[in-house]
Amino acid sequence: MSEEVTYADLKFQDSSKTEEIQEFDRFGIKVPPAASHVWRRRAWALTLLCCLLLIGLGVLGSIYMEKLNKLQNFKEELQRNLSLQLMHNKNSSENIWNLSITLQEIATKLCHELYIKNPEHKCKPCPKKWIWHEDRCYIQLTRYETWQKSDKICSDHNASLVKIKNKSMLEFIKFQRLYHYWLGLSPRKDKKDTTILDETIISSDWFTRNTSDLDDWMYCGYIDISYVYHTKCTETKRIMCEKLANPVKIESILMSEVPEE
Ligand SMILES: *[C@@H]1O[C@H](CO)[C@@H](O)[C@H](O)[C@H]1NC(C)=O
Ligand SMILES: *[C@@H]1O[C@H](CO)[C@@H](O)[C@H](O)[C@H]1NC(C)=O
Ligand SMILES: *[C@@H]1O[C@H](CO)[C@@H](O)[C@H](O)[C@H]1NC(C)=O
Ligand SMILES: *[C@@H]1O[C@H](CO)[C@@H](O)[C@H](O)[C@H]1NC(C)=O
Ligand SMILES: *[C@@H]1O[C@H](CO)[C@@H](O)[C@H](O)[C@H]1NC(C)=O
Ligand SMILES: *[C@@H]1O[C@H](CO)[C@@H](O)[C@H](O)[C@H]1NC(C)=O
Repeated sequence: MSEEVTYADLKFQDSSKTEEIQEFDRFGIKVPPAASHVWRRRAWALTLLCCLLLIGLGVLGSIYMEKLNKLQNFKEELQRNLSLQLMHNKNSSENIWNLSITLQEIATKLCHELYIKNPEHKCKPCPKKWIWHEDRCYIQLTRYETWQKSDKICSDHNASLVKIKNKSMLEFIKFQRLYHYWLGLSPRKDKKDTTILDETIISSDWFTRNTSDLDDWMYCGYIDISYVYHTKCTETKRIMCEKLANPVKIESILMSEVPEE
C-alpha cells in the first residue's frame, strides 16, 4: 500500500514537472497567442506597479506636504506666541515700572507724614537740620555774609541761594518770614526798585552764572518778609540755601532717626 502511495505521489510530481517543462517548452517555442497573453499580463503588472508607485509617491508627497504645513503652522504659532510673550513682558516690565513709581510716591507721602511728626525721622530725604518741602531741601543760616560768600557757602553744601520759581515755593518762603536773607537773583549793575515778593516769581532773573566775575559795585537782591530789596552785594545778609531732595528710601520709613550726612 505504502509503495503504491509513493508511486502515485511520484507520478503526480512527475506530471506537474512535465507540465512545467511543457510550459517552459511552450514559452521557448514561439506560439503567438500564448505569448501575447503573457506580455499583456506583464504589462498589466507593470502598469499596476507604476500605479502603486505613483500612489505611493502621492501619499508620500501628501504626507510631506502635510508635515511641511504643520511645520509652517507651528512656526507661525511660535512667532505669534513669541510676539505675545514679548508684548506681555513689555506690559509686565511697564507694570513693574508703574508699580515702583506708585510705591515711591506712597513712600514719599508716608515719609512726609512721619517727617511732620518727627522732623528728624530717618526717612527724611534731606540732611540733618534741613527743612524738607516738596522735592527740595532748605537750610537757614543766621550769620551774615556778603552775597558772594553766601553763594559759595551754599555751593559748598551742593546747594544754591534760594530761588522762588512758583506759587508753591512762594507760599513756603512766605511762611518762613525771612528777614534779610539773600536771594539767588542775578547781581545787577543798577539798583532795582523794591518789589513785592509775589512778583518775583514772574519777572525775576534768577541766578545761574558763575560769580567769580562779580564787581564791587553791583547790586544783589534780598528778602525782607514779603518784599524784595536790592543792595550792594558786598553788604552782609543772612543765608538760605536750597537743593534737590534725594528720593525717599522705602526701607528708611521703618527706621526712626535721621541718617548722618
Ligand atoms: C502657544 O500658546 C498657547 C497658549 O498659551 C499654547 O497652548 C501653545 O502650546 C503655544 N504654542 C507653542 C508653539 O508654543
Ligand atoms: C497690555 O496692557 C494693555 C493695557 O494695560 C492691555 O490692553 C493689553 O491687553 C495688555 N497686553 C498683554 C499682552 O498683556
Ligand atoms: C503705566 O503708566 C503709564 C503712564 O501713567 C500709562 O500710560 C501706561 O498705560 C501704564 N502701563 C501699564 C501696563 O499699566
Ligand atoms: C557734594 O557732591 C559731591 C559730589 O556729588 C560729594 O562728593 C560731596 O560729598 C557733596 N557734599 C555735600 C556737603 O553734600
Ligand atoms: C516749583 O518749582 C520747583 C523748582 O523748579 C520744583 O522743584 C517744584 O516741583 C515746583 N512745584 C510745583 C508745584 O510746580
Ligand atoms: C567759575 O569760574 C571759575 C573761573 O572762571 C572756575 O574756576 C570755576 O570752576 C567756575 N565754577 C563753576 C561752578 O562753573
